[in-house]
Amino acid sequence: MLHLLLLLLLPDIVMTSSRRLPPPPPPRRRDSQVLNIRLCPQQRMPTVGLTVRCSNLRLTKIPAGLSNRTTRLFLDHNLITSLSSGSFAHLRLLAELDLSHNQLSFLEAGCFSGLAASLRHLDLSSNQLSALDPAVFSGLKVHANLTLNIWNCDCSMQVRCRCLDLDFSSLEEVICRTSDLPNLGAVGVSLVSLVEDWDLCGSVKRSPDVLSLVTMLLWFLGLLLCFFYYIHQNTVVARRHFDYLQFLQTRDMKKSKTISNINF
Ligand SMILES: *[C@@H]1O[C@H](CO)[C@@H](O)[C@H](O)[C@H]1NC(C)=O
Ligand SMILES: *[C@@H]1O[C@H](CO)[C@@H](O)[C@H](O)[C@H]1NC(C)=O
Repeated sequence: MLHLLLLLLLPDIVMTSSRRLPPPPPPRRRDSQVLNIRLCPQQRMPTVGLTVRCSNLRLTKIPAGLSNRTTRLFLDHNLITSLSSGSFAHLRLLAELDLSHNQLSFLEAGCFSGLAASLRHLDLSSNQLSALDPAVFSGLKVHANLTLNIWNCDCSMQVRCRCLDLDFSSLEEVICRTSDLPNLGAVGVSLVSLVEDWDLCGSVKRSPDVLSLVTMLLWFLGLLLCFFYYIHQNTVVARRHFDYLQFLQTRDMKKSKTISNINF
């Protein structure tokens, strides 16, 4: 009787619980991190060593469990947004690292630490990087592909470009995508010419100086004008007084002449 009542009120729950369905399979998680490194094809070759290809797997993080014998690692065409410090620290033989075509916008200082001795080529092209931090590339004297990012060129960018350990050729064909006022002319300029031909810091510093100089000059001119106007007005008034005095004097002289003429 009770079972029948429950069946009328809550048909779904009672039916499923009585049928004892097997648990649903866990959802496939291809959209996040590869949990199994075996999804990345690996190839071992005598001369180049172990190549691991984790391209195009919609990865959001660096997969865990990479062999420390990896010499070439392809992580291109994924959804990785940032690299944390020591991400590759255990890959002491890594010579080539491809992180192109991801969503990288933040590289933590030290994210490439441990690679200075082995790394020969680093590809960071086609990402969302806007600022260069020399601490990120500390000790990495390699050619890096930095093209097709959203580099913002300002004074600090210029200063940082000069302190990079990376091979200078890495800055060729790397284009400034944005810049701040008053240096918008730097948009479209390559980082090489930014370092060699531009002075973003100078113009930023110089413009307030020029402005204050012009202001001072205008003040001085104004002061000078006031001064000359004052002198001019004074001379006019003084001349008027002088003329009046002269007039009085000649009138008095005429008067006294006529008086003396009358007296004689
Ligand atoms: C890789 O790791 C193993 C065990 O942790 C270690 O014995 C081996 O020397 C390491 N190889 C390299 C090239 O670092
Ligand atoms: C750098 O990367 C871009 C896009 O990923 C590619 O077209 C270009 O050939 C690469 N340049 C070098 C020097 O490897």
